[in-house]
Amino acid sequence: MRILITGADGFIGSHLTERLLSLGHHVTALSFYNSFGFIGWLNDVKKKPNLKIIKGDIRDLQFIETSIKNIDIVFHLAALISIPHSYESYNSYVETNIIGTTNILTACKKNNVKKIFITSTSEVYGSAKKVPMSEEHSLNAQSPYAATKIAADQISISFYKSFDLPITIIRPFNTFGPRQSTRAVIPTIINQLFFSKKIKLGNINTKRDFTFITDTVDGFVSALKAKKINGEIINISSGFEISIKQLIKEIFKVAGFSKKVVIEKKRVRPNKSEVIRLLGSNKKASKLLRWKPIYNNVKQFRLALVKTVSWYNKSENLNKFNANDLYE
Ligand SMILES: NC(=O)c1ccc[n+]([C@@H]2O[C@H](COP(=O)([O-])OP(=O)(O)OC[C@H]3O[C@@H](n4cnc5c(N)ncnc54)[C@H](O)[C@@H]3O)[C@@H](O)[C@H]2O)c1
Repeated sequence: MRILITGADGFIGSHLTERLLSLGHHVTALSFYNSFGFIGWLNDVKKKPNLKIIKGDIRDLQFIETSIKNIDIVFHLAALISIPHSYESYNSYVETNIIGTTNILTACKKNNVKKIFITSTSEVYGSAKKVPMSEEHSLNAQSPYAATKIAADQISISFYKSFDLPITIIRPFNTFGPRQSTRAVIPTIINQLFFSKKIKLGNINTKRDFTFITDTVDGFVSALKAKKINGEIINISSGFEISIKQLIKEIFKVAGFSKKVVIEKKRVRPNKSEVIRLLGSNKKASKLLRWKPIYNNVKQFRLALVKTVSWYNKSENLNKFNANDLYE
């Protein structure tokens, strides 16, 4: 299969690229063009003859149309994802997450792509009204990021309904593991624990369903094998939740030491924008994809944390991040 992955330079996309290459697929990995020639985490992906790296921008329809020629399957992961940044730069979120996704759909339609996976996010649900949250849970945009992802999902579904485009929406809950940006909550706690005097955080009373990266990638790969999933929206969630307060304690246990935690006002999100609780139901994924998470309880979560902490503890890995991220 000739597969295009957008966002292949990012956290989830680079792991997915590696997995699909190892399964023998021909992968075209799209890295976000920049004048430094920087290809993000694709730098760490072992180069194989079945890997082709291209550089460009999903906001550029002409580039996307050319890139999608002769492609069978598209995994669309490219997006702007930081919630705090979306408060300041929402126009770029609209352009990247909504227009960018529409460009992918348009190019897929024109080139008769056989299968398109659009990556959504649990953030589209907003704070849980009922748990576990199934795909039927109401949508509630509590941040510009969530709003643009809801719009991207809806335009994708409309292309399935209007043009019979073979689309499936994969909706991951909070994914964590090696290579995740140090702005995300688990990496920020780990890195501040190792390298700062204190750990500065926002609201620590929120609860999240954390899914380990290998499980998330397994979910995408299972979707590739699954049949009769066009037009479906499918959660990828561990079904295990933990508060950030408890998460800090777990990370301290894994590291073997602790540091003072300080709640910084500037890190606390506006009240109505704070998503208090996310806990996903993975029943539909189990039924349609025959996928089940391995890291789905506290014991397994601790094992995944050990893998994550030990990865960030290697200086060669940490040096790949912008150190300023730790102190913002
Ligand atoms: N990490 C999570 O916990 C999580 C949870 C749910 C959903 N998701 C979704 O998964 C996808 C991947 O997220 P991630 O955590 O790997 O984020 P990431 O930021 O590591 O990866 C996203 C990539 O998109 C690329 N990109 C951004 N704008 C682009 C543009 N205009 N053109 C081309 N490429 C562009 C960036 O270079 C980046 O590497 C996103 O769609 C995100 O919404 C992530």
